[in-house]
This record gives sequence, C-alpha cells and structure tokens, in this order.
Amino acid sequence: MEDIITTSALPGQFSDNTLTLRQPDDWHVHLRDGDMLKLAADYTARQFARAIVMPNLVPPITTVSAAAAYRGRIMAALSEERAFTPLMTAYLTDEINPDEIEAGFLDGVFTACKLYPANATTNSAAGVTDVRRIWSTLERMQKIDMPLLVHGEVVSPDIDIFDREAVFLETVLGPVLKDFPALRVVLEHITTEDSVQFVEAAGSNLAATITAHHLRIDRNAMFDGGLRPHAYCLPVAKRRHHRAALRKAAVSGSPKFFLGTDSAPHPKHEKESACGCAGIFSAPVALESYAQTFEEEGALDRLEGFASEFGPRFYRLPLNEGSVTLHRVAQDVPDLMTCGDIDIVPFHAGQSLGWRFVEEGSQGET
Ligand code: DOR
Ligand code: ZN
Repeated sequence: MEDIITTSALPGQFSDNTLTLRQPDDWHVHLRDGDMLKLAADYTARQFARAIVMPNLVPPITTVSAAAAYRGRIMAALSEERAFTPLMTAYLTDEINPDEIEAGFLDGVFTACKLYPANATTNSAAGVTDVRRIWSTLERMQKIDMPLLVHGEVVSPDIDIFDREAVFLETVLGPVLKDFPALRVVLEHITTEDSVQFVEAAGSNLAATITAHHLRIDRNAMFDGGLRPHAYCLPVAKRRHHRAALRKAAVSGSPKFFLGTDSAPHPKHEKESACGCAGIFSAPVALESYAQTFEEEGALDRLEGFASEFGPRFYRLPLNEGSVTLHRVAQDVPDLMTCGDIDIVPFHAGQSLGWRFVEEGSQGET
C-alpha cells in the first residue's frame, strides 16, 4: 500500500499525496437506460453528488412524466448508500410545448432544456431543425429563468466537421443570445479556441462545460496508427492549439467554465464498427483524469472551483457539503469493463493515471 498521509484536510486542500475537494457535480452526462443504466449511473454517483442527465434516449425525454419516470429508474438502479441527485433535462423538438416545459420546471422535474440540432449527434434525429422554430419556447425559458443547454454544432453537409462548432457560434448562438439577452445558456462540451473566446466575451448568462477527454486528446488521437474509434466523440476533438485553449480556460479560475464529462458509454462492438458511435465513457476515472490535467497545468488548486463551485453557482444551486479524496497513486485503467453481456471500453483504457479516487469507507488501497 502506498504511504498515504491521513489528514483532516479541508475541502480544496492538498498535500503531497492526497487531494481533498468539496464534492463535485457533473454538469453533463449520459446515463443511458436499460442494460447500461446501472453501470453508468453507479460510476457517476460514485464521484459526483449531482449530475445534469442528458435526455437523448430512444424515444427522447420530451415530457414531464417521461423525465420523472426516467429519474425513478436512475434512482432504482443505484444502491441505497449512493446519495445522488439526477437533475433532469427536457429534449427540445420542433414541436415542443412551452407549457410542458414550464410545468416541469416549476414542478422541479426539469432543471434545464437541451437543444440538439437535428442529426448533430447520437439520438438527435428528433432534435430541432431550425432554432427559429423554438423561439417561443426560448422566450418562455427566458421568462421563467430556465437554463438552455446547447449542443453547439451545425449539421449542414457543406460545413467541414471541424468547423461545425465555430459556425454554430456565428449562425445560431449569437442570434439566440442577441434576442434573449437574459437567457442563461450553457454551451456544452466546448472544443475550440473560438468557443473559449466567445464565452469569455459574452455576459455572465453564458457559460461552458469542458469534458475530461477534450482536455487530453486532440484530433490526432482518432488516427493514431490507424482508426481509433474510442477517441471518437462529438463534437470531435480539434487541433492541438484548441486543446491548449481549453486547458487554459479550465484552469483559469473563470466561473464561466466548469466540469461536464459528457461521459457517453456505447457497447464496444457499436464503436468498433463500420459506422462507429460517438461517445467516450469517462465516468469511471473522470476526476482522476481532470486532476491529472490540472496537475500538468500546475493548477491543482483551481480544480475545486471548476469541479465543485462554478457549476452550482451558475445553476443557482447550493454547493455540496461533503468532500471527496483522491490519492496520488498509480492507477492502471482496465482495457475493458463489462456490464451484463455488454463490453465497454473506458476512457484511458490500458493507461496508467497518477491519481485514484478513494471510495468512501475504503482505506484507499491500491
Ligand atoms: O460523443 C458524444 N456522445 N457526443 C454527444 O453529443 C452525444 C453522446 C452520446 O449520447 O453518445
Ligand atoms: Zn453529451
């Protein structure tokens, strides 16, 4: 066992061997449903107190009753000792009814709405074909102060896939913010320097989440010695200088940038296929991955703000009271995880990380 300093460290303190943080939240995650739900929910609830749960199921979560039922399935999938709050989202469609959205928000079932441009990503076929079609819903959301979460990519085949995010800023997000200056918007899983600058220049009503994987991979990871489907996610990773801009934003201490893993498990065979699914399953080692990045940037002291403070402040929710601990000890990430009959390749598979999350009640053995 590694020499662990037992300390009564306050949240945010770190010594040579341990890092203690106020318990973090994941502001963007896919928990799936059915066979994969238990695995996905358990890994997220292990590290995070709350999570914004994406609604891109089949069929998508478009009604209050569907969201309440899904929340029930998430809680039923978790063992009782997991204290976890799933924060549900509504999937916006061209036909969405603003009254349904408002009722769900006022009831405390919906925390936010998710805008998927139609066909931008996994299970987004029912998404919005033209943002003008949901103008009255955006108006209502602004009125009731309900956050809008955005998958920021255009889908026109004329636009190069590596430019989809930058074009979205100009053609969709800019006009939305102009017409709804008080609407709170989270630009999810940003991947470009353009988005960092856009978010920085906007008012305090615009923030962004940054994934663990976009802080570590650039687009070369998808083509490293051959096609690498496990590095494929949407938005796709971009050039290295974009990754550098994301890292700088994440460790900047700006409250406009906070943690959202976009952990998105897919069965191994559906990624290793002629038409592989987009998504990276980072939940099993999410905090370790972020800690490694922050350490490399010489900014471990900024991790707590990013992981545990800026998100709740933006969402106007209380900070968590508890804390979590990471030990500075080598952790070999398995090549494969299994969930019933399903194999899943996690983020960092086969790699060694320099940190290990300590389960409450465990002694932190390696
Ligand atoms: O890589 C991704 N996977 N990006 C998304 O936007 C969706 C997600 C999924 O649901 O698989
Ligand atoms: Zn996502």
